[in-house]
Amino acid sequence: MAPRIFITRRVFDDAVRYLEAHAEVVGNPTDRVLAPAELKDAAAESDGLLALLTDRVDSELLAACPRLKVVANFAVGYNNIDLDAAAARGVLITNTPGVLTETTADFAWALLMAAARRVAEADRFVRDGKFRAWGPRMLLGHDVHGKTLGLIGMGRIGRSVARRAAGFGMRILYHDVSEVGPDAAADLNARWAPMEEVLAEADFVSVHVPLLPATRHLLDDAAFARMKPHCIVINTSRGPVVDERALVRALGEGRIAGAGLDVYEREPDIEPGLTELENVVLAPHIASASHETRLRMCMMAAENLVAGLEGRRPPNLVNPDAWDATRP
Ligand code: GLV
Repeated sequence: MAPRIFITRRVFDDAVRYLEAHAEVVGNPTDRVLAPAELKDAAAESDGLLALLTDRVDSELLAACPRLKVVANFAVGYNNIDLDAAAARGVLITNTPGVLTETTADFAWALLMAAARRVAEADRFVRDGKFRAWGPRMLLGHDVHGKTLGLIGMGRIGRSVARRAAGFGMRILYHDVSEVGPDAAADLNARWAPMEEVLAEADFVSVHVPLLPATRHLLDDAAFARMKPHCIVINTSRGPVVDERALVRALGEGRIAGAGLDVYEREPDIEPGLTELENVVLAPHIASASHETRLRMCMMAAENLVAGLEGRRPPNLVNPDAWDATRP
């Protein structure tokens, strides 16, 4: 009997066709995030799940899906999945690393440039009919070239953001739990520094860490207090890495100059106060959202799913222990 796959949202036809060649495929026809109870019902008889970061894959869902063997997350981050619960049930979990690195780095730069040069605010200004004449002091922003970029997290995406800074002649300071090798540091023209130094020295701070207990509220009141008053903060990682209330306070009180955010603590809810601030650029979690990259991510998730269902080790397995435990 062909395995059954449930796809939790509307995805890409190429990926659905690929899955249909290997399994019986059922999809959520509504393109709406299913409530936990709906997801449990819809996925109950599935052997594989193509899940999105908007789906909570927790012990309750896993218990409701006794046949489940593989959950392929359509994202590089997998903080929506309870890995312990998956391990306890021997469910393989996969993600989509690598294919979204450059696209996400592009978008971190889009936010950085937009926040520094007030692009979203300028767009609102023009649309509101306020552009009456060129003005010498109109919508002044901050230069990007020649400044110091502070990167928190120097994994794949952090490094890609760093590479782009070369064209702007920027100095790069970074903080991570481990240092990149000397060749990479020289290549990226980046120097490791303690977190406090990165925050104090940077003109732009961009966050590129996964969401873990240790990174929750990494940027809090104390972190904002260390930053320069003209510092601009960019977050394309996960919302809870930044204490949003502290960010609103820091922006509102002029302790930092601006922010560019793609992710939020309680998506899709936005911290009250954030949308009233002119000096923030807000995007709806679209850093990887290019036609090419989202299709690649979807195909990658589909391939992981099929591999796991066919008994092959999925190429992007994030819980190898579950794989080892299911081996004879
Ligand atoms: C997007 O946020 C992802 O983790 O892929």
